[in-house]
Amino acid sequence: MRVLVVGGAGYIGSVTVDQLIAAGNEVTVLDSLVAGHKDAVNEDAELAQLDLRDENELHHLFAANSFHAVIHYGGYIQAGESVRQPGRYFANNVSGTIVLLNAMVAFGVTRFVFSSSAAVYGEPDGVPIPETAPMRPVNPYGETKAIVEHLLPWYEHAHGIRSASLRYFNAAGATMGRGEDHRPETHLVPNVLRAAMGQRPSVALFGTDYPTRDGTCVRDYIHVADLADAHLLAIEKTDAGSGTYNLGNGRGFSNREVIEAARRVTGGDFAVNEEARRPGDPPELVASAERARAELGWAPRYTDLEEIIRTAWAWQQAFPQGYKE
Ligand SMILES: NC(=O)c1ccc[n+]([C@@H]2O[C@H](COP(=O)([O-])OP(=O)(O)OC[C@H]3O[C@@H](n4cnc5c(N)ncnc54)[C@H](O)[C@@H]3O)[C@@H](O)[C@H]2O)c1
Repeated sequence: MRVLVVGGAGYIGSVTVDQLIAAGNEVTVLDSLVAGHKDAVNEDAELAQLDLRDENELHHLFAANSFHAVIHYGGYIQAGESVRQPGRYFANNVSGTIVLLNAMVAFGVTRFVFSSSAAVYGEPDGVPIPETAPMRPVNPYGETKAIVEHLLPWYEHAHGIRSASLRYFNAAGATMGRGEDHRPETHLVPNVLRAAMGQRPSVALFGTDYPTRDGTCVRDYIHVADLADAHLLAIEKTDAGSGTYNLGNGRGFSNREVIEAARRVTGGDFAVNEEARRPGDPPELVASAERARAELGWAPRYTDLEEIIRTAWAWQQAFPQGYKE
């Protein structure tokens, strides 16, 4: 297969590109490098450095390649920023996806795997969350994911584009060569590890009065390589039809538990600053991933939080300053 990976220079995309290539596929990465890293792109992939919304360039790329499938990671990812700058998020995550889908229509590409998010659920009625739970996002970031999910059945109806929308919970961990290097970094695991390395003075703990076992938010951590696995399976699944799948471990860990696990893994000591809740942060987000297991044949290899953190720690030590550029 020749696969177009949009956002393939980013955290999750770069790991997927490695897996696609290891499985014998040809890969083109489309990435503007607005948040991604050239060094994160597998040297056997072709890198097209352009903005997804540049329709002319995108059409040139489709005309020059016969893509079998498109995996779409490209977009902005910070929920908090999206509340302050909704237009930026709608323009990139929604309009950009429409430009991409329209190019697929123009060039007859019919397999689409979309990076959705647990953010589509907002504050769920209960956990674990099944895919049938209502989409009630509480920030523009989650709304952009929900809007794209609403568009997809219409593209299938009119143009036969079959899609898999993968709703990731909290991606974490690293492979030997690829890790998490968002700038700024808003995710707990890399920030805790940077504190353990002395690169940050402290870790912020947002909210300690949630109705959870220790008062801090509970999240479901899923290893980046397990997420990548699901994308390869999802491409195959689109031949049989469209679907929506949660990707998580089905087990929640509180922010305090993550911090304690990181202390055990790193042996490091660091300060933790207890701060106010962040608006729109639900107390608990834990996936039911039964559908992905049953329909995609997916099974996460990393189910232990400490093991996930250990992989991230190994990468952090190998790349203390992150990727070069
Ligand atoms: N990281 C998580 O925990 C998580 C959880 C749920 C969903 N997701 C979704 O997964 C996807 C990937 O997340 P990530 O953590 O790898 O993010 P990332 O920022 O590392 O990767 C996104 C990539 O998209 C590229 N990009 C952004 N806008 C672009 C544009 N207009 N044109 C071309 N390239 C563009 C960036 O340069 C970057 O390389 C995102 O869509 C995100 O919303 C991530």
